[in-house]
Amino acid sequence: MTGVAPLTPMSLGSLLRRIDHEWATRNRIFDLPTARIWSPEPDVDLGFEFLGRRCATPIGPAAGPHSQMAQNLVLAWLGGSRLFELKTVQVIDDLDIARPCIDMQTVGYNIEWSQELSVPASVDEYVKAAMLIRMLSGWEPLAEHLGDGPGEYVFDMSVGYDLAGISGEKVAGFIAAMLDARHVIDPLRAEVASAPGSFAAMADLDFDPRIADTLTLSTFHGCPPDEIEAITRHLIDEHALDVIVKLNPTLLGYETVSAIVNDELGYSDVSVKEQAFADDLQFDRGIDLIGSLADYAAERGRRFGIKLTNTLVVDNNRGWMPDDTMYLSGPPLHVLASTLLDRLSEALPGRLAVPGHDGEVMVSFSAGVTKENLADTLAMGVNPATICSDLLKPGGYGRLAPMLRTLATTISEDGFADLDCWRRHRQERAVAAGHRTTCAEHVASIRGEGREPYALSGNSKLPREVDHDLEMFGCVACNFCVTVCPNDAFFSIRTPEDSGLEARQQYLVLAELCNECGNCLTFCPERGDPAMIKPRLYTDAEVFAAHDGQGFLVDAGRVVDHRGSDDASTVALLLGAPAGDPLGGGNP
Ligand SMILES: Cc1cc2nc3c(=O)[nH]c(=O)nc-3n(C[C@H](O)[C@H](O)[C@H](O)COP(=O)(O)O)c2cc1C
Ligand code: SF4
Ligand code: SF4
Repeated sequence: MTGVAPLTPMSLGSLLRRIDHEWATRNRIFDLPTARIWSPEPDVDLGFEFLGRRCATPIGPAAGPHSQMAQNLVLAWLGGSRLFELKTVQVIDDLDIARPCIDMQTVGYNIEWSQELSVPASVDEYVKAAMLIRMLSGWEPLAEHLGDGPGEYVFDMSVGYDLAGISGEKVAGFIAAMLDARHVIDPLRAEVASAPGSFAAMADLDFDPRIADTLTLSTFHGCPPDEIEAITRHLIDEHALDVIVKLNPTLLGYETVSAIVNDELGYSDVSVKEQAFADDLQFDRGIDLIGSLADYAAERGRRFGIKLTNTLVVDNNRGWMPDDTMYLSGPPLHVLASTLLDRLSEALPGRLAVPGHDGEVMVSFSAGVTKENLADTLAMGVNPATICSDLLKPGGYGRLAPMLRTLATTISEDGFADLDCWRRHRQERAVAAGHRTTCAEHVASIRGEGREPYALSGNSKLPREVDHDLEMFGCVACNFCVTVCPNDAFFSIRTPEDSGLEARQQYLVLAELCNECGNCLTFCPERGDPAMIKPRLYTDAEVFAAHDGQGFLVDAGRVVDHRGSDDASTVALLLGAPAGDPLGGGNP
C-alpha cells in the first residue's frame, strides 16, 4: 500500500450545511461563484437526446475525477453539465492507486483506474448528487441564476472491465441500486430534515429513485472483443439497459496513431505503446462488433451507442508519476478520436447517427474538448461532448459555463435557435465547401492548417512559477489550488485584519476529500505541494488518527486536536472569521 487513506466522502448533511454557509457568507456553492453558474439562454435550445433521454445541454464530465463524488457532480451541474458519465465502477473496489496520478502540466496524462470508493460508497455518492441536484433545482436563492429552469439531465453509469466482474454480485448490485435507489434515498431524508435553512423542508421531496438507466462500458485495460460483445449483451439482457461501448484510440492501429502523434503533431517525446495495440480491439473486428451489437440492441428494443474515446496508453517517460505506463488525454487525443470517427463512419455507411450518415448508433465523444473546439466537435454530430482534461486546468468547473455561452453565441450568430437545425446547416456548409461531412471537414482542419492548438508547439507552455517556497500561511493567492481540485478539497478564507498574516487570502485543505492526485501541485506557482503544506483539516477523528503529517481535527468550527504544526491558534482564528468554517459549524 502507498499509505494513502481512501477518500472519505462528506455526509449529505455536511454538504447541505456547506452549501448553506457558503451561500450566506460568500454567495458561492462549493467555491463556484455565481458568475460561473450556467443560466440557460432563452433563445437557443442546446438540448439533445441521449439514448432517447432528454439532456438540456450537450456537455458534461467524462468518467474521471469530476464524476466520482457528490460535490463534484453538483459542481459540474452548476456549470451547465447535463450529461454525466459517472466514474467507472468495477469489482475491485479497493484499488491501490499510486500517487501523484494526474499530470496536466502540458497535454494531459494520468495513471488513474476506476473508482477509489467502495461500490456501496459510489452508489451513495451518485444518489447524494442526484438528491442535491433535485434540491438545488428548487432552491429559491438559486432561482435567479438558473433562468427558466435547469432542464433535464442524465447520469450515465460506467462499468468495467470484464464479464466475470460485471456479472458478479457486486457490480450487479450496483446496477440494481442505480435503477432503484429507494433504500438509499429514504435513510438520507433524515439528514435533509436536519439541514439548515430551507433545505429541511425538502426532506419529503419526490426524489426520483431511478438514478441512472443507461450505461457506458469502459473497454480499457485490454478488454478482448468477444468479452466486449458478451458484456454488452449481458447488460442488455440482464439489466434492460441502453448501452454505449467506450472505444480506445488503439482502434486506429499503431502506424496511424504514431504517425499522427509523433510525426504530424510533433510529440517526439510521446512513446506510444505498441503492445497495447495488439491486445486491443482491431479496426475490422470493431466494425463487425458495432454492427452486430447495434442489431442485437435494436432487436430487443434497446438503444446502442459508441463513445470515442478513452485515453491512449503510452510509456511513462516523464518521471513525475510512478508506474511504467500512463494514459494520454487532451489535445492530441482530440485529433485521434476525430480521425477515428471519420474512419468509422465511412466504414459503416448509414449506421452512425452523425451528419451525412444519419444512422441509429449514437456517438458520444470525449477527447480534448475545449471552449475553442466545442462547436466544431458538436458539429461532427456527436452527442454529447464530455470533458475531463480541460476541467483539470485552472478555472476547473468554472470553465463549463463559458463553453456553453460561446456555443450558444455561435449557434445564434449563424441564425439558428437549436442545436439540431444548426448541425444540419453545418453539414450543408461542409458539403458546399467540398467535404464529405462535418467530421471530414474538422479532421482536415485539425490535421492541416488548424493543427497548432493540438500540436506540441501549441502545448509546450508550462504553468507559471515564482521563486518562493510555499508556506502554511500566505502565498501569491492565485486561487489555482481551489479551481483545479476536482474534489473541491481546497477552500480559501479572507485573511482577518487582526491576524498578523500578510496575504489577502489563506488557503486550507479538507483532507478527507483530498486523494493526493497532485493536480494542485502541478499548478501552484510557488515551490512545494499545497495539499501537504497548507493546513489539512479533518472532521473525522479516526481518519485524523490514521494519517501522518500536519493536520488539524476540527469539530463545529473549533480545532480540537492537531499535530505536526504549532499553528493551531492561527487555524482557529481563520475558522472563526466570518466565512471561515466551510461546514458552517460556527466558532464559540
Ligand atoms: C484523471 C483521469 C481519470 C479517468 N478515469 C476514467 C475512468 O474511470 N473511466 C473511464 O472510462 N475513463 C476515464 N478517464 C478517461 C476520460 O473519461 C476521457 O475519456 C479521456 O480523458 C479523454 O477526454 P479528455 O481529453 O477531455 O480528458 C479518465 C481520464 C483522466 C484524465
Ligand atoms: S487538494 Fe490537490 S492533491 Fe488533493 S485532491 Fe485536490 S487537487 Fe488533488
Ligand atoms: S497555495 Fe499555490 S495554488 Fe494555492 S493560492 Fe497559494 S499560490 Fe496559488
